[in-house]
Formats: sequence, structure tokens, C-alpha cells
Amino acid sequence: MVVIGSDHGGLELMAAVSEALRQRGLEVVDLGTDNGDSVDYPDFAEKVAAAVSRGEAACGILVCGTGIGMSIVANKFPGVRAALVTDEFMARMAKEHNNANILVLGGRVLEGMTAARLVSVWLDATFEGGRHQRRLDKITQLEADVRAGKL
Ligand code: RB5
Repeated sequence: MVVIGSDHGGLELMAAVSEALRQRGLEVVDLGTDNGDSVDYPDFAEKVAAAVSRGEAACGILVCGTGIGMSIVANKFPGVRAALVTDEFMARMAKEHNNANILVLGGRVLEGMTAARLVSVWLDATFEGGRHQRRLDKITQLEADVRAGKL
């Protein structure tokens, strides 16, 4: 299951992403927005990131105008590794090295076919583990230290 969310700046691109996910036979849970009215990206980043952080969804996709705002919000959530990507290399690295569980795209940056391709590359890639797992473990420790007020 993939949870998705966008603001008005990402709505059009998200339609292409959502269609690509469904064509892969994936269950898609769309947490909005559902029309072109101006909305606040933190509200939709929160819904998707919370679902991933709580383990209700294995992964998610967020789209806003640039992808920047969605990334900033999503990465506040424990256990979320949200990666803003703009090309195939970054999409592959986001999984192989960072094991990103949320892919973030810019609706005013990418075209639909490119976005669908980046989603496929990310989904098809495999986390390499090893030294990259050690680095993710450090991020997990940082989260715990910040929560405990040690940092
Ligand atoms: C909305 O105009 C825009 O600021 C938003 O979609 C996003 O790009 C923020 O990072």
C-alpha cells in the first residue's frame, strides 16, 4: 500500500503518479488534496508522514510545487526518510543508499512521464544495507537523542 498526498501545486503531477502506481497494481490511499484550491502543504505532508511513521503504510509519495516544503515537514516525523528527487540517479540512490520511505517530487519541476519513471525507479530499487544501514542507525539514534533532549 502506498499513501500519497499533494497540495494544489502538486495535484496535477500527482494524478500522473497515482495512475502509474495503479498500473503497477499497487493499492493507493490518496490523502488529498482533491481539488485545485490553495491549501497548506504541511497539512498533507503530515497525513502521509504520520501514516508512514506509525507503520500504517510501508511507503508514501508527496508532491508540492517544488517538493521542498513537503520534504521539510515529512522529515520531522520519527522513522521517516523523505527524499526529494529530480532525476533517475537520485531516485535510485534514495532507495539504495538512504532507504527512503517517502519519495517527494516537485509538481512545478517535473513532467508527468518523468515523475512516473522516477517512482518506478525508486520502487524497483533495493536498499544495499551494510555501511548504509550503519548511517541510518545513526539517524535513528539522533532522533532518539533529540526526543530525549540530549541534543
Ligand atoms: C505553493 O504555492 C508552494 O509554496 C508549495 O507547493 C511548495 O512548493 C512549497 O514548498
